[in-house]
Amino acid sequence: MEQIIINGGSPLYGNVSIGGMKNAALPVICACVLNEEACVIDNIPPVSDIETLLEILSTMGASVRRLTKYSVEINCKNLVPCTSPMELANKLRGSSYLLGAEFGRFGKSSVSHPGGCSIGARPLDLHMKAFEALGADCTHRNGRLEVEAENGRPVGSSIYFDKVSVGATANAILASVLADGITTIDNAAREPHIVDLAVFLNACGAIITGAGTSVIKVKGVEKLHGCRYSIIPDMIEAGTYMAAVAATGGRVTVTNVIPKHLEAISSKLEEAGATVTVGDDFVTVESTGKLKGINIVTQPYPGFATDMQAQFGAMLCFAAGTSTITENIFNSRFQYTDELSKMGADIKVDGNHATIIGGAKLSGAPLMSHDLRGGAAMVIAALATEDTSVIEGIDKIERGYHNIVGKLRDLGANIQKKTSYTDEQIRVAFN
Ligand code: UD1
Repeated sequence: MEQIIINGGSPLYGNVSIGGMKNAALPVICACVLNEEACVIDNIPPVSDIETLLEILSTMGASVRRLTKYSVEINCKNLVPCTSPMELANKLRGSSYLLGAEFGRFGKSSVSHPGGCSIGARPLDLHMKAFEALGADCTHRNGRLEVEAENGRPVGSSIYFDKVSVGATANAILASVLADGITTIDNAAREPHIVDLAVFLNACGAIITGAGTSVIKVKGVEKLHGCRYSIIPDMIEAGTYMAAVAATGGRVTVTNVIPKHLEAISSKLEEAGATVTVGDDFVTVESTGKLKGINIVTQPYPGFATDMQAQFGAMLCFAAGTSTITENIFNSRFQYTDELSKMGADIKVDGNHATIIGGAKLSGAPLMSHDLRGGAAMVIAALATEDTSVIEGIDKIERGYHNIVGKLRDLGANIQKKTSYTDEQIRVAFN
């Protein structure tokens, strides 16, 4: 079992460069299924969720060629629909975007109920509602969701979501790009990754307007053409390093970001007592490590992201006074607080509310990461605690953070990754 070992208590200083956004890259990669020509996607984060999705496409008959660690050429001309392997699709939530993409191009799709982090119920009813509006029958069969157009291909329509869903909005776009006619998506998600998907598809010849607002219009086109596209920077990776430096103290410049995407995070950090200076494509966070308690409420973009809730939860353990967190998106996203309690944190969870009495001196502990962002929260707590902590379950963290150990070490953290086998033991075992 791999472990991250942290001797915390040192402030962080320096620059950290942010990679492409995992949650934007997943739908963009799936969007290549709509295209019979090759696309080159740049600024791909080399994290395990992306590797799994690329493996799924290869298994389905797509040509997937790595150009560099961060660039991939994808040609889905020969992809066979409804053949995604369950054991791979089960590993990540992002495989659900294959539903919209396969249905959009072939008029039918079949994907196993997608996996992902254990953060609460993640139903597909809104996705199905969108497919049905476009003329599909949806059936659950043998652990897979099957979507099939009654007329052989999707037909443009009006879709209204009674709840804002990033996944369902992306799937509605994917399903309607090649549809017959115009589709209107009302109460659409406004997340930067929805905008990125629309910009990519438009670069391939789609006609999508309104992405970034709550009404998106898609005029169906006959076919798409290849293009080269660079994924937007990961606002959650950036926000994680910002919260880390606020908790430990120090001064870190987070480069290769779109500061506009970080407004909710920056404003909450400033409210807690850190200073955030904004440049064209960077932000600098400066903190004495002496923070004060604040209240956080997660909301769809441009509100405070649910994907930053756990990292702020950890940071607020070091803030004087009382903080509250209200989690409005996922119903089981406080699992990480049990681990922080093992360090001596005073956190009480009641339903979707958490109350944190900050400022107590924490001690190091063995910690288990159950999900991606919860794992990042444990890293932050360990960095800010003057003691040694050992974090397990780091495969969860590596689903979304490329080289988190190396990046933090470059900022001065005393952090290392260990496997339970030495290099010599591995060499002997494989010879
Ligand atoms: C969510 C985040 C997104 C983040 C992603 C990865 C929001 C609004 N979305 O997106 O920013 O990148 O996690 O961690 O913060 N829901 C239904 N039925 C459905 C689909 C969703 O009821 O068919 C509900 C979910 O249970 C949840 C809410 O809608 O309560 C938002 O879910 P959704 O945006 O779809 O989740 P993700 O796409 O995973």
